[in-house]
Amino acid sequence: MTRMTAAIVLGIETSCDETGVGLVRNGKLLGDALASSMDEHVRFGGVVPEIAARAHVSALVPCVREAMRRAAVLPKHIGAIAVTAGPGLATALHIGVAAAKAYAAAWDVPLYGVHHLAGHAAADLLEHGALPARCVVLIVSGGHTSLLVVGDLARDEIVHLSDTIDDAAGEAFDKVARILGLPYPGGPAIDKAARDGDPAAIAFPRPLTGPRDDELGFSFSGLKTAVARWVERCADDGRPVPVPDVAASFQEAIADVLTAKAVLACRREGVTDLVVVGGVAANSRVRALAEQRCAEAGITLRVPPIRLCTDNGAMIAAVGDLLVRSGVQPNGLAISAYPSVRLERAQLN
Ligand code: KG4
Ligand code: ZN
Repeated sequence: MTRMTAAIVLGIETSCDETGVGLVRNGKLLGDALASSMDEHVRFGGVVPEIAARAHVSALVPCVREAMRRAAVLPKHIGAIAVTAGPGLATALHIGVAAAKAYAAAWDVPLYGVHHLAGHAAADLLEHGALPARCVVLIVSGGHTSLLVVGDLARDEIVHLSDTIDDAAGEAFDKVARILGLPYPGGPAIDKAARDGDPAAIAFPRPLTGPRDDELGFSFSGLKTAVARWVERCADDGRPVPVPDVAASFQEAIADVLTAKAVLACRREGVTDLVVVGGVAANSRVRALAEQRCAEAGITLRVPPIRLCTDNGAMIAAVGDLLVRSGVQPNGLAISAYPSVRLERAQLN
């Protein structure tokens, strides 16, 4: 066990189209590597699971080698393996889990199965140090939008204040980008197009903000439809679609709803620290508005740097490092992949 207390943890992430590998010890990122099959999915307008899985197969070992080279780490230095066991694309998850088992068996080190969304939350500690004892976490990714109360990430059950009832925020970005003829993934494309647009040009709806709505609830499917209808009306009238204005106004609606509800969640929970994570946390307007509203409300805001917001292996290694340091039992080689598991704990059993 002495080896485990100061273990270097190798983290593997393959839940979607990013093959990520990271090495973490004591909350510090030693090195990482990332490969993406994003370009191969562009012409389909979304991730094709079989293509993603095949890309993981060819990228995984080179990524492990590259991360180890960057960290100047040899196999004998690695004390544990952590892998995203869910949620995600089944075919893609299985590649990472199988590889993690192979490394754990070959190097004779413990194996931990990690919930992908706990990884997103842990990403921030690599930049800003240990998470506060109790904080509200807004997770905004391609598949999930949730407001959570997080205590000890390695040990405590994670409390869900709300989860989107339909589309996730990132999904809405991707679908609206498609409506506007912008490339996949839609988030970065809309962020870019919005720079030249007026966020007040079109008053898109702010979903679930009425007096009788769940004040922490999220729903983005109606907003996406509102954008689609607005764009259709342009075509009907024979007007060109003002893409930058639509992008900026849509982005403003999402950023407004996300940040208002996150601040409200902190107030309701009596929490003074907000952590915003996941791919949509890379959005420039979400970041700026969160900063402004947290400053006004006296809330300390933590948002990881953009490269740690989107999927990566370092965040999975960060969870593994927390689990190791907390003395949590490893999973062992019987672990499987869980494509649609709900976030209840950082470790998946
Ligand atoms: O967390 P993530 O990398 O993968 C999942 O776990 O889903 O999130 C991917 C999502 C995609 O929907 C992508 O469009 C969105 O994050 N995204 C952004 C930005 N960068 C990535 N959304 C808005 N603005 C961005 N700059
Ligand atoms: Zn993710």
